[in-house]
Amino acid sequence: MFIELEGVAKIYNQGQINEVVALRDIDLRIEAHTLNCLRGASGCGKSTLLSIIGCVIQPTSGRAAVAGLQPARMPDRFLTVHRRRCIGFIFQNFNILPALTVRENITLPLVPQGLNRRAMAERVDRLLQRFSISHRGNFPAGRISGGELQRVAIARALVNDPPLILADEPTAHLDSGLSREFMEYMAALKQAGKTIIITSHDPQVTEHPAVDRVIDMKDGRIDVS
Ligand SMILES: Nc1ncnc2c1ncn2[C@@H]1O[C@H](COP(=O)(O)OP(=O)(O)OP(=O)(O)O)[C@@H](O)[C@H]1O
Ligand SMILES: [Mg+2]
Repeated sequence: MFIELEGVAKIYNQGQINEVVALRDIDLRIEAHTLNCLRGASGCGKSTLLSIIGCVIQPTSGRAAVAGLQPARMPDRFLTVHRRRCIGFIFQNFNILPALTVRENITLPLVPQGLNRRAMAERVDRLLQRFSISHRGNFPAGRISGGELQRVAIARALVNDPPLILADEPTAHLDSGLSREFMEYMAALKQAGKTIIITSHDPQVTEHPAVDRVIDMKDGRIDVS
């Protein structure tokens, strides 16, 4: 099993007046090489669950194992390395740095790997070609189109060749053509052996034929009704 969560709960600001129980009693198993969607109303805990799977935050209680490792048992510095190596995150607004060039944005997650400049440039070149953005490599990322930006975000998530790709509402700001294109890329990545989890309420995402499983959430729980 590639991801295993058992009795996972997440409480923000525990014990304080602004305490929020975001997740309760989550049991979830996700197999490798599958494409999965997390679906549910705003505030039901999708992003929180994705962040726990992505080792960005730790659960308040329960057990999580992601790609063979238990994040709660690892010191922070190992967790950072694990996350960089194993997980590619695609954010809702893509979190691309507008003042940096497209090439610099994609290179950024590679820098701590300690590769030499030439090896980094070769790897980035391959991604620029694969996503048809070579002609934009030296453009400031703030000056490219929405579709190009989406491809830069996917390329950046892939630069360390992680086995797990997580995307939080990736099509929220895309038109339907670009949403379709995004899912075609995800389908191809699944074919290439990646495990993918996407949070979305967009039917163009959740009803795509490449999706193996839709996990419904409600009020911080997995909804099995
Ligand atoms: N850092 C935080 N501190 C306190 N409460 C938080 C924090 N992040 C999320 N929450 C709360 O936890 C609950 C779950 O939030 P989460 O962002 O996981 O939901 P979501 O399903 O992703 O919603 P959306 O569809 O709007 O993105 C919400 O009530 C939210 O307000
Ligand atoms: Mg969210």
